[in-house]
Amino acid sequence: MKYTVNDCELLEFDKHSSSKGSLSVVQHQKDIPFDIKRVYYLYDVPGGASRGAHAHKELWQLMIAASGSFRVTLDDGKQKRSFFLNRPYQGLLVKPGIWRDLDEFSSGACCFVLASEDYDEEDYIRNYKEFIIYRKHDND
Ligand code: TYD
Repeated sequence: MKYTVNDCELLEFDKHSSSKGSLSVVQHQKDIPFDIKRVYYLYDVPGGASRGAHAHKELWQLMIAASGSFRVTLDDGKQKRSFFLNRPYQGLLVKPGIWRDLDEFSSGACCFVLASEDYDEEDYIRNYKEFIIYRKHDND
């Protein structure tokens, strides 16, 4: 069985706030159900641009709006679910096999991503028709 959009969720992390500001913690296996192998971040996204437009076969990810805001639309081939990320103490858990589109980036937005695997272009499905075929083979 492959994961559906209903298996993806917005997680809330500890927030340590004082008069000097806030700090949030994301610890592997405690706060998120995978070990973190890679971190990358998207920034300087021009207004109106969209990112993503792909799925991963094996990769687990957590997306955080480290600053600013953006929308993430998840798609399992049958159902879509949109999340508006705008709080640095929240993260969207995206499980393997889910198509994602990111758009509506505010100015100064930073999408910080924690990932379970190294970068591997072979893990990507970048063609939506191929994604739909991939989703139909439920036991792959
Ligand atoms: P991509 O994953 O397509 O970005 P997005 O989903 O945000 O639109 O990656 C964009 C480019 O960056 C692509 O040429 C691959 C490269 N890249 C790496 O080299 N290493 C990485 O860890 C990632 C995530 C991307």
